[in-house]
Amino acid sequence: MSTTTKTTTLTETQGPSTGPSTQGTVRTPAPAASAPSAEFPVHPKPRVRLPWPLSIYQSAVGKKWVMALTGIALLGFVLVHMIGNLHLYEGPVKLSEYAEALRDLGGDLVPRTWILWGMRIGLIAAFGLHIHSAWSLTVMSRRADASYVGGRGYSAASYASRTMRWTGPIILLYLFYHLADFTWGWFNPDFVRGDPYHNVVASLSSIPVAILYVVANVALAIHIYHGAWSMFQSLGINSPKFNPLRRRFAQGFAAVILIGNLSFPIFVQADVIDDGGVSVVREHEAQMADPEEASGEEASGATASGATP
Ligand code: HEM
Repeated sequence: MSTTTKTTTLTETQGPSTGPSTQGTVRTPAPAASAPSAEFPVHPKPRVRLPWPLSIYQSAVGKKWVMALTGIALLGFVLVHMIGNLHLYEGPVKLSEYAEALRDLGGDLVPRTWILWGMRIGLIAAFGLHIHSAWSLTVMSRRADASYVGGRGYSAASYASRTMRWTGPIILLYLFYHLADFTWGWFNPDFVRGDPYHNVVASLSSIPVAILYVVANVALAIHIYHGAWSMFQSLGINSPKFNPLRRRFAQGFAAVILIGNLSFPIFVQADVIDDGGVSVVREHEAQMADPEEASGEEASGATASGATP
């Protein structure tokens, strides 16, 4: 693809109709000296031409497709993860059974945890590609902006992409914290390996952590709203007839994720999701190690009322 074609494509995909609003501003082309040219192209010719189909990713359109397709995979994960977390309302036993069922996917046909690990590897790849394509498109967009007099006009279209650029890093930081807290147990002094219910309650009982979850999940909902809207555009689905449906889909999807995910910190704070500070896994291990002492503790009423579903 020639430099001229790429420049045209990039300008078109950033047009006023990429955002949820249809309003936009007219951008003034710079004098010929600073406009994208063979000397200063928006997207310089790649030093190495990759073989097809990898070469598709070297164009702006290819990167948009990759961002949209990996976005769909990530939307699927976020939805399934939120629905899975609803087991929190059934208590620690049901949540652990759900986690166990995930590890056992595939039954006797494949070794235990292989399917789960396959999904994790796919998720990591989708996440990596999503971030890389977003980053490359941002760099290309900055180059394009620099070639317009007075920089970029802040249009409704650029509003959508600007929010993506601050909600994206918030989600990345949140994800790191989330895994470090719930999976690796770095930040939670009361972390118990293999007891997700107890770990969620122990972490989200802290007001600062609950606030962090609320802020991060609001950022996630904003990101999902703009992402779910613009992925159709990236995939070439954009017509006035279809746009109201696109908008409703984006709003509905973001709202479902927001309500589901916000309910967890809120209901832990309200003690609706609660284990009384007692981990069923820790109790079980103590019982296995010393059955007599553990049954004595139980008789004296030391077990949590909320520890069973
Ligand atoms: C308040 C909302 C959320 C709650 C209560 C929650 C809860 C959990 C729990 C209990 C685990 C399992 C930890 C373990 O035992 O290893 C987990 C894992 C995970 N969560 Fe969340 N989560 C929430 C939101 C999110 C969001 C919004 C994302 C993505 C943006 C996310 C991404 C992940 C990932 C990638 C894992 C690791 C999955 C794996 O190891 O297979 N979570 N979460």
